[in-house]
Amino acid sequence: MAQAAVEPGLIGEYEERFASSKRMHERAAQSLAGGIAHDGRFIKPFPIYVDHATGAYKWDIDGNRLIDYAMGHGSLILGHNNPEVMAAVHEASGKGTHFGSGHEAEIEWAEKVVELIPSAELVRFTASGTEATLLAMRLARAYSGKPSILKFEGHFHGWNDYLIKGEKPPFESPSNPGVPDEVGRTVAVLPADDLGMVEERLTQGDIAAIIIEPSGGSWTSIPLEIEFLQGLRDLATRTNTILIFDEVITGFRWSPGGAQGRFGIIPDMTTMAKILAGGFPGGGVAGRADIMEGLLFKDDAAWNSNRKVIHPGTYNGNPVAATAGYTCLGICANPEIQIYCDNLTARLRAGMNTVLENRGIDGCVWGESSVWHVILGYKVPNRAAGDLRAPEGIPSDVLKASGKAGLNTPLAIAMAIEGVDLFNGGGLLSIAHTEEDIDFTIEAFDKSLTRMQADGLV
Ligand SMILES: Cc1ncc(COP(=O)(O)O)c(C=O)c1O
Repeated sequence: MAQAAVEPGLIGEYEERFASSKRMHERAAQSLAGGIAHDGRFIKPFPIYVDHATGAYKWDIDGNRLIDYAMGHGSLILGHNNPEVMAAVHEASGKGTHFGSGHEAEIEWAEKVVELIPSAELVRFTASGTEATLLAMRLARAYSGKPSILKFEGHFHGWNDYLIKGEKPPFESPSNPGVPDEVGRTVAVLPADDLGMVEERLTQGDIAAIIIEPSGGSWTSIPLEIEFLQGLRDLATRTNTILIFDEVITGFRWSPGGAQGRFGIIPDMTTMAKILAGGFPGGGVAGRADIMEGLLFKDDAAWNSNRKVIHPGTYNGNPVAATAGYTCLGICANPEIQIYCDNLTARLRAGMNTVLENRGIDGCVWGESSVWHVILGYKVPNRAAGDLRAPEGIPSDVLKASGKAGLNTPLAIAMAIEGVDLFNGGGLLSIAHTEEDIDFTIEAFDKSLTRMQADGLV
C-alpha cells in the first residue's frame, strides 16, 4: 500500500522541528542508497537522524528528545545503554574485538540460551536474524532430505531469498525483484489460520520444515490463535515435519523462554536475534540435538565432505556481541523484566484505545506482551475491551501493511512533533520506560489526533 500524502500543516511543522534531519537526509541520499540503511526506517518526507540515546529516550541532531518505541528494532528490552551490559561490553572490547578463535564468552552465551529456551539442546550463532532463519532452513533440509519450506502470509523472517516470499501484501504476488523463480518454488505460503490447508499441503511430502512467527506475522500485526500454534505442533509431530519458531522478536520478550516458554508449545528449532545479542549484531539457531548435529565434524571423511551442513561466518559468536548477549540474557532470566514491560504496554494500549473511544475516532491499538500497533480509519467492533489482542474484522493484508500505510505516516509525523518516535506504526517497550513515559505518550497521541483533525485527516 502506498504511503498517504501528508497535509501541509503537519509537514511544515515537521520540517521546522527536524530541520537538521531534513538537511542530513539530503546529504545522506548522495552516498547512502535512499539515505537509509534499512527499509523500515523510510518515512516520507524524510527520516529523523539521531545523535545519541539513553534509557527510553533518543535525541535527534536538532536536540529534540523522543521517547523511543523502536528500541533497537526490539533488541533493547533493557533500554539504551543498560549499565550492566555496557560495563561488560567495555571490558570485553578492551580485550579485543575479534579473536578468530573460540572463547569463553560464546560458551557462556550458548549456556544461557540452553538454560532459557525450552527447545534449545544445542546452539549455533550467526551474525543476524536473517542468517539464523537461513541456517535453520538449511539444517532442516539437510536433516529431512526434503527441499521445501512452509511459511505463512505476512510472517517476516528476515530478507533472505527464500523467506521473503509472501511477506508483504499482496501475499500471493509472484513478484520478488532479484529472487529467482526457482528459489520461490521451494517455499509454500499459506494463511496462518487454516490447519486443514496446512495438513493438505503436507501430504505432498516435500516439506522439510514449517516456520512461523509464534506472535503472528510481524510481532502481532496479524494476530494468531494459540490453537493454530498447538495444531501446527501436533501436525508437525504426526507428519515428522520440523517445526521452527522464529523468535527473533519474541525470544526473551514474551517470557524468559520466549513465546514457547509463555505458551508451553515447544518447537523443534528456534531462531533468535535482537535481545539475544543485547543490542549488538548477532543471531542464533537452537534446537534438537539430532538436527543441530548436522553441523558437527565427525571422524568420517565422507560425512565431512558430503553431508555435513556448512556454516562459516566471520562475525559468528563475536566476543563483544557474545558478552552483551549473555549479560543481557542473565538479566532477562528474571521474569519480572517481561512482566514489567507487559504491564506497561497494556497500560499504553488501553490508554490509547480510550483516547480513540473518547474522540469517537475509528481505529484500534492492539498487541501482546510488550508490543503494540495502531490502525486508524477502521471500525473495530470489539474495541470497547480497551486492551485487545486482536482487532477483529480487518483483513490480514490491511493489518500487515498498516504500519507504514494509510494514516500511520501522518500519525508518526505528528507523534514525532509531540516527542514520540513510533516504529512501523507502533512499538516495543523496555524496562527503561516508565509510567510517566506511557502517560506522556497517551497524551501525545491525543494531541497528535488534534493535529490530524486540524489537517482534516481524521
Ligand atoms: C521475526 C523476525 N525474524 C527475522 C528477522 C531478521 O532479523 P535481522 O534483521 O537481524 O536479520 C526479523 C527482523 O526484524 C524478525 O522480526
